[in-house]
Amino acid sequence: MSNFVEIFEVGPRDGLQNEPEFIGTDRKVALINLLSSAGFKRIEVASFVSPKWVPQMADGADVLAGIERSADISYAALTPNLRGYEAAKQARATEIAIFSSASEGFSKANLNASIAEALARFEPIAKAAKSDGIPMRGYVSCVTDCPFEGLTAPSAVASAVAAMRDMGCYEISLGDTVGRGTPDRVDQMLSAVLEEAPASKLAGHFHDTAGRALENIEVALGHGLRVFDAAVGGLGGCPYAPGASGNVATEAVAARVQDLGYETGLDLEVIAEAAELAREMRHV
Ligand code: HMG
Ligand code: MG
Repeated sequence: MSNFVEIFEVGPRDGLQNEPEFIGTDRKVALINLLSSAGFKRIEVASFVSPKWVPQMADGADVLAGIERSADISYAALTPNLRGYEAAKQARATEIAIFSSASEGFSKANLNASIAEALARFEPIAKAAKSDGIPMRGYVSCVTDCPFEGLTAPSAVASAVAAMRDMGCYEISLGDTVGRGTPDRVDQMLSAVLEEAPASKLAGHFHDTAGRALENIEVALGHGLRVFDAAVGGLGGCPYAPGASGNVATEAVAARVQDLGYETGLDLEVIAEAAELAREMRHV
């Protein structure tokens, strides 16, 4: 089994989307440019969602136009509907992501749609992305807990993963959106999900509200997962998930997996610098 753990940097998107004060495009671009020199293969940089819903991400096209792209990095963007997809394509996002939920309550709060309605909106995105040759990732939120419905059944996560797989997602990221998952429940959830998709097609996306993200990552490593989403400086939260705190910090994940003997290919000095920059951005 691979000794390489990839950290998918989501700070510029998941990390910043929740910031109440608008952060200027040039500052976002500066953060992404710095992150581009840290060794990441994939960085999530924008969302093409309704600016009424997430005002902080309204400048996605300008961000993608402003960054200095490295040819071997994929610059990803979230797309909730075909309109978002077209905008992401126009802005030359290298890859896109559709995002669903294992719980109806969160789907409604985040997308103003039931799980089935949201999937129906993703169908034309999947078709277009396939014909345009743009890789499509998928998220499933609330994989252990929902802010509105409590505990999530592992079978509901497995069904949501199967739907994203059938839609053509090359990888499905499992979101502990509110950061309340416990190692035993993450273990049970993964056992159910692995019936539908192999570990090589799964990623872990842990928010760190209860301080258990690193433990949960260890559980996922034990199940063979080797990709984890994280945000420099532990930035973030989801505006539609009350009580959600930041993503697990990139620097903490890198340190932990390296202690466990995995390679990350990341330059920890650059990441420390980026974490500092990210923290400063929150206070301006
Ligand atoms: P709606 O209000 O049901 O739909 O929103 P609508 O069609 O009435 O659109 C509302 C307004 O947005 C309209 O403008 C549309 O034109 C416009 P108006 O006519 O009122 O002036 N609009 C758009 N504008 C720009 N780009 C678009 C777009 N679509 C519509 N693509 C909608 C439905 C899906 C648009 C909305 O619910 C939405 O944008 N939701 C996204 C919420 C979001 O971004 N959440 C955070 C990301 S998910 C997350 O963080 C979880 C994750 O990290 C994993 C985890 O942690 O679990 C991924
Ligand atoms: Mg998230």
